[in-house]
Amino acid sequence: MNSRWIAAALAGALMLTPLAAGAQAVDQAQADAGMELFKPTGANCEMCHAWTGGGRWNDTPFSTVPATGPSLITSTMTRAQMIEVIGCGSVRGDAVMPRYRGDAWTQQFPCYGKVGTSATADERPIPGERQLTAAQIEAMVTFIQAVYQGKTMTLANCEKYFGPKSKGCNLLRK
Ligand code: HEC
Repeated sequence: MNSRWIAAALAGALMLTPLAAGAQAVDQAQADAGMELFKPTGANCEMCHAWTGGGRWNDTPFSTVPATGPSLITSTMTRAQMIEVIGCGSVRGDAVMPRYRGDAWTQQFPCYGKVGTSATADERPIPGERQLTAAQIEAMVTFIQAVYQGKTMTLANCEKYFGPKSKGCNLLRK
């Protein structure tokens, strides 16, 4: 698996420039809705990906304790790939990315080219804390791409996440 992550990191570094240059205007309302869903009060993606999206656990900004989930900052996934992995979930060794669509792995929403009966139990990960609609998953991905993927955490985004004056954002204050 290591080589996969190294390759992904390299590809990510090479892709930053074209991504930034070709970036489209962010749908802010969608990104904000996605941020709410990322929180423990939403679908709780934070539990495994950390609030920074960096896959470092706990509330201390830039903690070095690894989380269960990979970094969304260095993710090289396309929008479509993210929509699929969030809807379908994914299992990697002992680490599980839950599935967030109720109809995932059915004819309605096949996952990685498979549907229920042809998939082993391992390939159909546990459902997430709550199910998300297609529109909510779109919003999640807009948020991830606007705030995490290839980005550096800003004080503005931190305060948006935790609220103004939050101590959790101290490391980002000059
Ligand atoms: C229980 C822990 C857990 C939770 C909760 C969780 N994830 Fe994940 N996530 C993972 C793991 C583990 C992987 C890696 C799966 C793999 O490589 O097969 C992953 C992978 C991903 C990826 C693909 C990243 C990449 O480049 O490989 C995205 C995007 C993602 N998660 C988004 C989310 C979103 C959005 C939520 C909330 C709706 C969420 N995750 C909730 C554990 C979690």
